[in-house]
Amino acid sequence: MMRSEPRALQLNEHGQLKHFLTLDGLDKTILTEILDRAESFLSMGEQSVKKVPLLRGKTVVNLFFENSTRTRTTFELAGKRLSADVINLNIETSATSKGESLLDTLKNLEAMQSDMFIVRHSDSGAAHFIAEHCTPNVAIINAGDGRHAHPTQAMLDMLTIRRHKGGFDGLKIAIVGDILHSRVARSQLQALTTLGVSDVRLVGPKTLVPSFFAEMGATICHDLEAGLKDVDVIVMLRLQKERMKGALLPSESEFYRLYGLTEETLAWAKPDAIVMHPGPINRGVEISSEVADGKHSVILDQVTNGIAVRMAVMSMAMSGQLQSDDSPAAKDEK
Ligand code: NCD
Repeated sequence: MMRSEPRALQLNEHGQLKHFLTLDGLDKTILTEILDRAESFLSMGEQSVKKVPLLRGKTVVNLFFENSTRTRTTFELAGKRLSADVINLNIETSATSKGESLLDTLKNLEAMQSDMFIVRHSDSGAAHFIAEHCTPNVAIINAGDGRHAHPTQAMLDMLTIRRHKGGFDGLKIAIVGDILHSRVARSQLQALTTLGVSDVRLVGPKTLVPSFFAEMGATICHDLEAGLKDVDVIVMLRLQKERMKGALLPSESEFYRLYGLTEETLAWAKPDAIVMHPGPINRGVEISSEVADGKHSVILDQVTNGIAVRMAVMSMAMSGQLQSDDSPAAKDEK
């Protein structure tokens, strides 16, 4: 079977989001709409009543085939703040672990009249596959697939940058560490390029920052000082050992000595640089505790912003589904 092109799959006939699988093919207008909408939800989080009825009566299923704490919890909170009924399916104890195929599990969830699946899976392309095989009116949101994409993480990072730096024009950004295995880095690079950032440096050893990333519009740096020189934003990434095959690193202590972010190496960046990390952080492996907890760190802001961005994406995809020409409501009107 031919795979549908991501743009055609995730937008409805009116160019609105109906799934959120990848940033590939999404333009600056849609990315900006996500950020603006998230911004309006952020102020809501500060009020004593944190709910809006945008997904009232809708059922959202968190389908996490791979571990997660932050992402799963913030999706759950986002769904609840939109007034949806949210179910967390624990795959380890579900029928999938008894040999049921992914498609059979999905068919059962569809039969329960679910409206949205939030999917995390260790295989690249899993969310796309599900979007192609589900009934058309279920919105699929990618919460991370293999090394391929983690679009809501990239968008919460964009919101964090925009709130701290006021915009994207002229920014210099370094993404440091295990780029090779990182779906976060891939999605961030797509978002930054679409939003007009031209100086993005990917920093790390040759084994973890292969040269083909230059084709995606980034500068490759194997030297930390050159990579951090005068940057406005530093994104540190975890060594994703669960995805590493073979020896890609001499040792963790050698990695920290060459690429770790400490107060000394942070001094190469601009004095007002912000430090980001998608988590989970490994203190003393890619980042020192002083920096992770220090005044440049916006790591916990990223978590807060994640709820607002997920609310934005979920509400946009739900309304894109309802306004799609093949939704039951649109058919009734015809
Ligand atoms: C990232 C992920 O799972 O891709 N974490 C996250 O979503 N908070 C990055 C990582 O696992 O290192």
